[in-house]
Amino acid sequence: MNNLTQSDELFERARVVVPGGIYGHVSPAAGLPRHFPHFCDRAQGCGFVDVDGNEWIDFMCGFGAILHGYNHPEIEESVALQREKGSVFNQPSPVMVELAERLVSSIDFADWAVFAKNGSDLTTWAIRVARESTGSPLVIKAKGAYHGVDSWCDPGHGGRIPEDRASILEFEWNDLEALSVIMSQNEGDIAALILTPYHHAAFAPSELPDPGFWAEVEKLCQRYGILLVLDDVRCGGRLHGGGSHRYFGFTPDLAVYSKALGNGYAISACVGKESYRKASMEVFLTGSCWNDAVAMTAALKSLELSEREGVAEKVLAKGKELTEGLERVAEKFEKNLKMTGPPSMPYPWIEGDENLFEIQKFCQFCAEEGIYFHPHHNWFLGNAHDSESIEKAIHVAGRAFERMSEEERTS
Ligand SMILES: Cc1ncc(COP(=O)(O)O)c(C=O)c1O
Repeated sequence: MNNLTQSDELFERARVVVPGGIYGHVSPAAGLPRHFPHFCDRAQGCGFVDVDGNEWIDFMCGFGAILHGYNHPEIEESVALQREKGSVFNQPSPVMVELAERLVSSIDFADWAVFAKNGSDLTTWAIRVARESTGSPLVIKAKGAYHGVDSWCDPGHGGRIPEDRASILEFEWNDLEALSVIMSQNEGDIAALILTPYHHAAFAPSELPDPGFWAEVEKLCQRYGILLVLDDVRCGGRLHGGGSHRYFGFTPDLAVYSKALGNGYAISACVGKESYRKASMEVFLTGSCWNDAVAMTAALKSLELSEREGVAEKVLAKGKELTEGLERVAEKFEKNLKMTGPPSMPYPWIEGDENLFEIQKFCQFCAEEGIYFHPHHNWFLGNAHDSESIEKAIHVAGRAFERMSEEERTS
């Protein structure tokens, strides 16, 4: 097992001054197996070094925030130039206009763009724009879909009152019949349907849209005058350079991006059609550091790189290399591993592993050899992954399955 002494010591210190020590997906309370470091020291390309000096090949990419690799030289160079001028001023800097122009020209349905810091800032804002535009209160979402930390959608229960969810209706992903019933029963009262490009819940295999799903969703939204809000926070940049709606072939009314947009610099964007410009101007929008020119510069350079290098296609191909390799080695040891979801954001599912013990064991064995796979959340490929890192991961995975088989034989 890796030496994690410094990680453990820092965690103990953190517990005194930060409730729970660490929150979110990497909190030990969230079920992440031991053997994972709690704290990171530095990162480069597709790898990071934890506070104990252990080196990792990383398949989480900062939970999706890193698309071009950690500390990408070209992005960091642009950022350094902007940093010399400053980051947050009273007014936006010219880079805001350039970034909005870039999004409007590369996202086919977009006529305008606004910026914030987090995905949650703008998923919540987008549904308010839909309410302002339609004058209707209700919002439909898919059950188990994550759209951020605000009380209308967060997966927790703390601090919530029934009113927070009173205007939220849910249907099971891909259940078009149920969606259609919700819409007809609430005709005239629904402002928005907010969906991710495919269903990527934690602790469960990912579900792609059934054939015809998106065409029917578009039709239903048009029939009932409901805005289709695409939450592309997690998938943006990893399925299609022009937005994930192009990968699945549909057109939303509003779309929200964050995670990969700034390659690790905090920024989110919402883009929309002309018809919602007026409503967008009626919903108050601001934040302490939202005019951050450094993050906007990172996003601009990141989008330029994505287009120039065809990064979405590349990460899909790299993901295919990884997922096919993993399924192949699993089969060798009679494990029915299915890498679900698109290959650039695969979620691992071992058939019959309902209590998730097997996937946890697999990730633990891989962690012992410096491969960072998460057992309960979809993984992320980045453009810094190369054949060497992918082959190494497949090789280590093979050994992990072999150890699991041996343990089963001898238990
Ligand atoms: C699909 C989706 N929507 C919204 C969010 C919220 O984004 P943020 O964490 O930046 O607020 C996330 C974050 O993981 C997400 O995956």
